[in-house]
Amino acid sequence: MGRSKITVVGAGFVGGTIAQRLVETDSYDVVLLDVVEGLPQGKALDLSEASPICGFEPRIVGTNRFDDTADSSLVVVVAGVPRKPGMSRDQLLETNTRIVRAVVRDIVARSPLAIILMVTNPLDAMTYVAYQVSQFPKQRIVGMAGVLDSIRFRTFIANELNVSVDNVQAIVLGCHGDSMVPLVRYTTVAGRPIEEWISKDTLQALVKRTRKGGGEIVSLLKTGSAYYAPAASVVEMVEAILKDQKKILPAAALCEGEYGIHNLFAGVPVKFGSHGVEEIVVFDLTPEEQVALEHSVNAVRAQCQKVDQLLGCQA
Ligand code: LAC
Repeated sequence: MGRSKITVVGAGFVGGTIAQRLVETDSYDVVLLDVVEGLPQGKALDLSEASPICGFEPRIVGTNRFDDTADSSLVVVVAGVPRKPGMSRDQLLETNTRIVRAVVRDIVARSPLAIILMVTNPLDAMTYVAYQVSQFPKQRIVGMAGVLDSIRFRTFIANELNVSVDNVQAIVLGCHGDSMVPLVRYTTVAGRPIEEWISKDTLQALVKRTRKGGGEIVSLLKTGSAYYAPAASVVEMVEAILKDQKKILPAAALCEGEYGIHNLFAGVPVKFGSHGVEEIVVFDLTPEEQVALEHSVNAVRAQCQKVDQLLGCQA
C-alpha cells in the first residue's frame, strides 16, 4: 500500500508548519497548496532540501493547482484571512465563508472520499461551512480547536506546578473563543484531581489565560497568530485518523443531540479512527458545566445562522 496523501490548503505559517511536521513523520505524501504563486513551491522545496539530514523522504509538493490534490485521503484547510485590527468577527466570518466555500468545492470535486479537517477561524462556523458545502457525511468533517485549547491549559498547569506536561491531563470543550469550557473537574495531575494541587484562584486564572490563549500569542507576535501549537494539534488529529488510533481528543464535530446540542458543530470529545469522527464520547456534566457549554455553543449558533444567509445568497 502506498502512503496516504494529505493536502494542506494554505501555505502561511500554520499551513507551512503543518506541512513540515507531516513530512517529517516520513509517513505521508504531502501537497501544500496556496493561491500565492511561488509560496507553496518555495516552502515545499525548502522542506525537501532538509530531508537528507532530517531523516525523511522528500515526499512533498507545493502547488497553486487543485488538480494536484486529487485523491487525497485527508485535506487540512487553513486558508482564510486572520482578523486584522478594526475588523469585526462578522466581517471575518463573511470573508472566510467565501474563501472556505470556494476551497471546499475545489477539494470535493477532486477528493470525494477525503476527510476534511478545518483550521480556519472562526473555527466552529467554518467547519459548518465545510459540512454544508461538501455535503459529506458528518464523520468526514471535523475542526481543530479543542486539542489546541487543551494543550495550552496543560502547559499553563505544568508550568505553575513545575511538573512535566506529561503528567497533566485536561480537556476543553465548547467553541473556540472566549466562552470555551475547560473542564476543571476532569483535569488531573498524575491522576490526582487538579483542585487538590492548586488554589481555586490560581486555577481560575489559568482557565482565564487558556480562554484568551490565542489572543495572548497575537499580542506578543503583533503581526500574526499562533502556529507551532496549532500545527502540532492538527498533526495529532491527522495521525489519530490515518493511523486508526481510536484516540479521544476534543474537536469540533457535528452534534445531533449529544450534550443536548442539536445540528451544530461544537467542541466535544471525539474518538478518531480511519473513518474520521467515529464517536462523540459523552461525559457526565454538572448543571453548571452544561450551562457553560450551552452558553459557548450559542455563540456558534448565531454564527451559523449568518453562514446560512451567506451561503444562501452567494450560492
Ligand atoms: C489561536 C487562534 C489563532 O487560538 O485561533 O491561536
